[in-house]
Amino acid sequence: MIERKVVLITGGAGYIGSHTTLVLLRAGYKVLVLDNLSNSSYLSLKRVSKMTGTAPSFVHGDVRDRRLLDNLFRLNKVDSVIHFAGLKAVGESVNDPLSYYSNNTAGTVTLCQAMAAAGVCSLIFSSSATVYGNGATVPINEEQMADYPTNPYGRSKRMIEQILFDLARSNDKWSIGVLRYFNPVGAHESGLIGEDPLGVPNNLLPYLAQVALGKMPELPIFGDDYETHDGTGVRDYIHVMDLAEGHLSALTALETRSGVNIWNLGTGKGYSVLEVVQAFEAANGCNVPYRIVGRRPGDIAVCYADPSKAARELGWHAKLDLTTMMRDTWRWQTLNPNGYRD
Ligand code: NAD
Ligand code: UFG
Repeated sequence: MIERKVVLITGGAGYIGSHTTLVLLRAGYKVLVLDNLSNSSYLSLKRVSKMTGTAPSFVHGDVRDRRLLDNLFRLNKVDSVIHFAGLKAVGESVNDPLSYYSNNTAGTVTLCQAMAAAGVCSLIFSSSATVYGNGATVPINEEQMADYPTNPYGRSKRMIEQILFDLARSNDKWSIGVLRYFNPVGAHESGLIGEDPLGVPNNLLPYLAQVALGKMPELPIFGDDYETHDGTGVRDYIHVMDLAEGHLSALTALETRSGVNIWNLGTGKGYSVLEVVQAFEAANGCNVPYRIVGRRPGDIAVCYADPSKAARELGWHAKLDLTTMMRDTWRWQTLNPNGYRD
């Protein structure tokens, strides 16, 4: 009998983590999820179990808890780790930077220490296009570093990347994939799992979907005076299922690669806020009232990926288009108007 590979997914109950757990279970991996549920619900994993007919193992705990990690690695023969766990709200990171350096940066250090002690050296880390900082030239390739990110969240991610480089230089046993996501949106086509932000959403798609649902009166569009074709900000929206598939491809690639490997996960296409609103209305036959308001501090005009390195080295590219992203967002939102909370 072929032994199934075991992957520890930290933050696996969250938005991207739950979709990746689904993809890995379907690909035949054994999955162990570690999550403190600070921004997610165990229901996401229950639904993943129902969808796949296989349950991931679940440990309720914190990635900063070294004792818990040591026990986890002692009791389970883990082959690789995919590390999603962390905080991600840019505004919150400005008001509470220490939580970001603790959960994200220190959390990753503790995880790597426990991995090293257990002899587990294959790691995929969730980074972000935010590490490129302001002023990078589009399409953004992996070599670009315009300046330091403008907020503690972004800085926590860039620091982690630097720590991972130092770690890989110190010992060539490490195989590390740093995945820089552009703008993840959408949900699994079943509408059973999706993004479930607590409180008022920060990001465009969850906000827009709540306006369409009538929970919010109108969408604020942050600025129409950028140097873009219609004045609103341009981003590279990527379907969360494509993103999840990217993790599977990276996991396979790491079997034959060492050191730190950086891959952009984006589509290479940029859409403006107004184009996204129009695409949502056209895909779902609903009306989204909006109002142009002032720019949001820290926002940049244009950001989209050069995804050719991932295509070349991983054989991965995003397949799902903007219309599918809009339909799947709406299906999830209408089937679960209160997210995982009833
Ligand atoms: P999410 O909040 O849905 O998922 C993160 C998960 O980690 C949650 O389930 C949360 O409960 C858990 N968690 C947080 N701190 C923890 C800790 N100390 N110990 C254990 N569990 C902890 O977020 P997501 O959108 O799925 O993002 C996953 C990763 O991808 C994050 O690292 C995020 O920074 C990164 N990322 C996200 C985006 C995005 O727009 N969604 C973009 C770029 C990068
Ligand atoms: N926007 C609005 N109104 C809203 C929300 C957003 O007009 O209510 C606009 C923004 O100004 C921007 C675009 O929609 O032009 C996308 O904004 P998001 O907040 O959805 O996403 P960002 O590009 O600002 O940032 C996201 C994540 C970051 C991550 C970055 C790159 O929130 O964590 O993508 O991956 F770093």
